[in-house]
Amino acid sequence: MAVIIKSQEEIELMREAGRLLAMTHKELKKIIKPGITTMDIDKKGEEIIRSFGCIPSFLNYNGYPASICVSVNDEVVHGIPSKERYLEDGDIVSLDAGLIYKGYHSDAARTHGVGEISEEAKKLIRVTEESFFEGIKNAMPGKYLVDIARGIQKHAESNGFSVVRDLCGHGIGRNLHEDPQILNYVTFRKGTKLKEGMALAIEPMINEGDYHVAWLDDDWTVVTADGSLSAHYENTVIITKDGCEILTLEE
Ligand code: MF3
Ligand code: CO
Repeated sequence: MAVIIKSQEEIELMREAGRLLAMTHKELKKIIKPGITTMDIDKKGEEIIRSFGCIPSFLNYNGYPASICVSVNDEVVHGIPSKERYLEDGDIVSLDAGLIYKGYHSDAARTHGVGEISEEAKKLIRVTEESFFEGIKNAMPGKYLVDIARGIQKHAESNGFSVVRDLCGHGIGRNLHEDPQILNYVTFRKGTKLKEGMALAIEPMINEGDYHVAWLDDDWTVVTADGSLSAHYENTVIITKDGCEILTLEE
């Protein structure tokens, strides 16, 4: 399927969808502390998104039962919020959220430390975020998706971490998932050539140990195969005339 180029009017709506999602993440960050449950995060996230008059896009997506994906420690992505799962001092927690504003989607993820976390965990969170920014240095017309992937992979691996292979980013717009698929590691394919007006959700998932992952029996939660920590960082971006605009950054 072809990659959909967004009009200025569509980009304007996606900008607002992105701004509201950034505000959602900013508010969620404030409640992260030892003793809350992953369900508390989901409930708060849904409440914030609905307070904006928006729809939480993950809720019931392919049967996913919550609004926010909450993934703790070795959970990579798609953790299911639970009222039995308490955050503890020293945990790291990834929050992935999406919303729909006037028919347009935004999608973003952040990883936070809970209380005091180890230096290694701090480094993993920082390097994951940095790898996104290394990747988007190559997000501009004329470059290819592989150029974004190269920036991400180089930064993660040069810091001793690994890039998850089995999950990827995606185009976004009227649908949460549109073409193209956006790998976070280099293959022999160059991938789609970037053009002004493309809307992309770029989302490196970086493991402390090996890149292999496994799925839990709930058929959603992805965990590292070796039990090491994993972090996730995602923004929705638009390819502009000479670079890209990040729609989901907190102010
Ligand atoms: N940000 C994730 C993605 O892009 C979350 C969607 S999975 C869902 O794939 F099912 F929970 F919605
Ligand atoms: Co996404």
